[in-house]
Amino acid sequence: MGAEGKIYWFTGLSGAGKTTISRRFAERLAGAGRLVKVLDGDVMRSGLCADLGFSAGDRRENVRRMGEVAKLFADSGFVCIAALVSPYRADRERLRDRLGASFVEVFIDAPLSVCESRDPKGLYARARRGEIPAFTGVSDPYEAPEAPDLHLPTAELDADACVGRLLAHLEAATA
Ligand SMILES: Nc1ncnc2c1ncn2[C@@H]1O[C@H](COP(=O)(O)OP(=O)(O)OP(=O)(O)O)[C@@H](O)[C@H]1O
Ligand SMILES: [Mg+2]
Repeated sequence: MGAEGKIYWFTGLSGAGKTTISRRFAERLAGAGRLVKVLDGDVMRSGLCADLGFSAGDRRENVRRMGEVAKLFADSGFVCIAALVSPYRADRERLRDRLGASFVEVFIDAPLSVCESRDPKGLYARARRGEIPAFTGVSDPYEAPEAPDLHLPTAELDADACVGRLLAHLEAATA
């Protein structure tokens, strides 16, 4: 079964597919008997990170805290999937320094126009109306990874194909 812990860190715009793909990836791993934990940004922001907003400092702290929780799971042999926008390159680089070889940066990549047309939570519409300050892609920057460990273009690959690439990556990493 391979008990080596891993952290699959999904970064990408809102609506790019982080939650959708993380759930399917986790289902496949659980079905194969792996210990797996999904840390979803939305869920964490209602609990552990409920005190944080969307300023640059709060986003940095949000990423840091989720990284620390992910590390606890990975140290216990879990495949931990963290799904949060994590828009700033420097914050993700800090993770790589802290988490080392277990950290896998996965760019869940869809163009802003595609994310905005999907708008599964209606957030882009609200952001365009000025109702959400500092919304990533609209009024706050998204700094795309320059050299992600895995690049999943979700406008071109369906969710199952993305999961296939993740499974292949994990298999290669633990072979
Ligand atoms: N290839 C794909 N992979 C994932 N999702 C896709 C794909 N193609 C279309 N979709 C759709 O795009 C939407 C992605 O929404 P999802 O909630 O997963 O995004 P997210 O990245 O988690 O956003 P947020 O940061 O707001 O939580 C869903 O409605 C999903 O069905
Ligand atoms: Mg999500």
